[in-house]
Amino acid sequence: MGYCVATPDTSAYEDWLEAAWWPSLKEELRDFSAQTIEDENVLTHIRSVSRTPIRVTQPYPAHLHINLLPEMQNGGHGSSLLAHQLRALMMSGIKGVHLGVNQHNEKVVAFYAKFGFVEIDRTPSILMAKRLTE
Ligand SMILES: CC(C)(COP(=O)(O)OP(=O)(O)OC[C@H]1O[C@@H](n2cnc3c(N)ncnc32)[C@H](O)[C@@H]1OP(=O)(O)O)[C@@H](O)C(=O)NCCC(=O)NCCS
Repeated sequence: MGYCVATPDTSAYEDWLEAAWWPSLKEELRDFSAQTIEDENVLTHIRSVSRTPIRVTQPYPAHLHINLLPEMQNGGHGSSLLAHQLRALMMSGIKGVHLGVNQHNEKVVAFYAKFGFVEIDRTPSILMAKRLTE
């Protein structure tokens, strides 16, 4: 029905991706041709992965994603999931968290703003972040 996943340490996670995930995935998709614009976007991302800059990971080391199926949206479940995830990160002593919002989904910025996330960059995708400890 949906998920809210996070890594507490984006840099370490990206190290692992580079060592154990991207090479085999790139090889698997080497001859794959995209049929839709969505596939094309995902393929472009996989084939030219870039790391999250240290100016983001230093103050906001954690990274999260949240998505609910349409029939589960607008019922408070996203708020519960996000609150639970933020509490878990905070209890682990993580000092900050960031996330990305697609520019075509800008309305969702209001959802994150309710939880204290602020926009820190636009590239043009929107980068939002929140401090978890002083
Ligand atoms: C964004 C999402 C996680 C929010 O979860 P949700 O369960 O639908 O949201 P809630 O019912 O907890 O809503 C909490 C508040 O945020 C607002 N909100 C939720 N989704 C919103 C959206 N897409 N745009 C603007 N406001 C939104 C609600 O209106 C509500 O405001 P209120 O407290 O003033 O009534 C969920 O709608 C979702 O998965 N959407 C599709 C995928 C997506 O956009 N994921 C985020 C990618 S960055």
